[in-house]
Amino acid sequence: MSPIIKAPKRFVRPLRPQEWGEAMQMVWRVFLRFEADEYSLDGVQNFYHFITDDLLYMMYKQGVYRVFAAFEGRKLIGMISIRDGNHISLLFVDEDYHHQGIGRALMRYLCDLLVAEGRETFVTVHSSPYAVDFYHKMGFRDTDGEKKQAGIIFTPMQFFL
Ligand SMILES: CC(C)(COP(=O)(O)OP(=O)(O)OC[C@H]1O[C@@H](n2cnc3c(N)ncnc32)[C@H](O)[C@@H]1OP(=O)(O)O)[C@@H](O)C(=O)NCCC(=O)NCCS
Repeated sequence: MSPIIKAPKRFVRPLRPQEWGEAMQMVWRVFLRFEADEYSLDGVQNFYHFITDDLLYMMYKQGVYRVFAAFEGRKLIGMISIRDGNHISLLFVDEDYHHQGIGRALMRYLCDLLVAEGRETFVTVHSSPYAVDFYHKMGFRDTDGEKKQAGIIFTPMQFFL
């Protein structure tokens, strides 16, 4: 008789405080692999300070900075966060899970939630150079050309819910 192997389930839900460290470690790992080469040393340092800043964690604890994570079973495999109600701040998927629909699932979860809450009519993002085509596939449109600020290169974009 062959053994029963259950595939671990994938799902998205709000991040729990005890998962913050695991999420930011994944973000930093993926950032180094897919984004850091495009930025100056200043940009890389600024990004590191942003994700390790106690203030960001406090804002998350207060519900001002909202974070949602994708899991496979208990393993955190991606995350999306928003600030100012409708601005995507971080969207990162573990490298081993790229091109498996996790980024799209995180985007859908966020957009469905914002529509259900009824306060926002659009979302914005500063896309990394690496993610520009991904966001275009998700229906985002550029609102300006590529910019460089504090060593970080990004394209401002918008998506109507
Ligand atoms: C961008 C990112 C979140 C996409 O996550 P993902 O789980 O691989 O994306 P999905 O599998 O849901 O892809 C959805 C669609 O976008 C496409 N896509 C994904 N990444 C892409 C990329 N880098 N370039 C072009 N297309 C891409 C997929 O092929 C898929 O297309 P399809 O619907 O025609 O099959 C992920 O590559 C990542 O973490 N990148 C590094 C961090 C980053 O740049 N984040 C954005 C910060 S603003």
